[in-house]
Amino acid sequence: MERTLVLLKPDCVQRRLMGKIIGRFEEKGLNIVAMKMMQITPELSKKHYAEHVNKPFYPGLEAFVTGAPVVAMIVEGLEVIRVMREMLGATSGLKAAAGTIRGDYSSSRQMNLVHASDGPEAAAREIALYFRDEEICAYEPTLTPWMKAGDE
Ligand code: CMP
Repeated sequence: MERTLVLLKPDCVQRRLMGKIIGRFEEKGLNIVAMKMMQITPELSKKHYAEHVNKPFYPGLEAFVTGAPVVAMIVEGLEVIRVMREMLGATSGLKAAAGTIRGDYSSSRQMNLVHASDGPEAAAREIALYFRDEEICAYEPTLTPWMKAGDE
């Protein structure tokens, strides 16, 4: 099992798309093991987006992600880091394939609705930025035997 950090960004909250998008994760059979609504501060934004802080688009990105609440969650599943990125689609909603979350709901490069960790190191770093260990509710969904074979 892998875990990834997912953020429903301010555009997702403001556009009332939270339920639809969380529903897609649930329908896929992924397991949400931690979730909270919170306000990202400029300090947290700089830590989260450390690799982008010096890019020309960073000031706009910070204003965007601190401009309304986000919903942070930890999602668990087999190969979930890759699976989640594929469910989101390309960074820009204009380039994301139809059928992906961004392809279906976003027409923007910045306002692309959802963030997900791009690899195992980023997932570990980002999970620690947003959640304390005691906020994680690990549990075994009762549907597991109907979602995958025992040896998967
Ligand atoms: P995310 O997957 O959260 O990772 C970095 C974010 O920066 C990205 O989604 C977009 O919201 C934003 N972003 C990436 N590239 C650009 C760009 N060229 N211009 C504006 N925003 C960008």
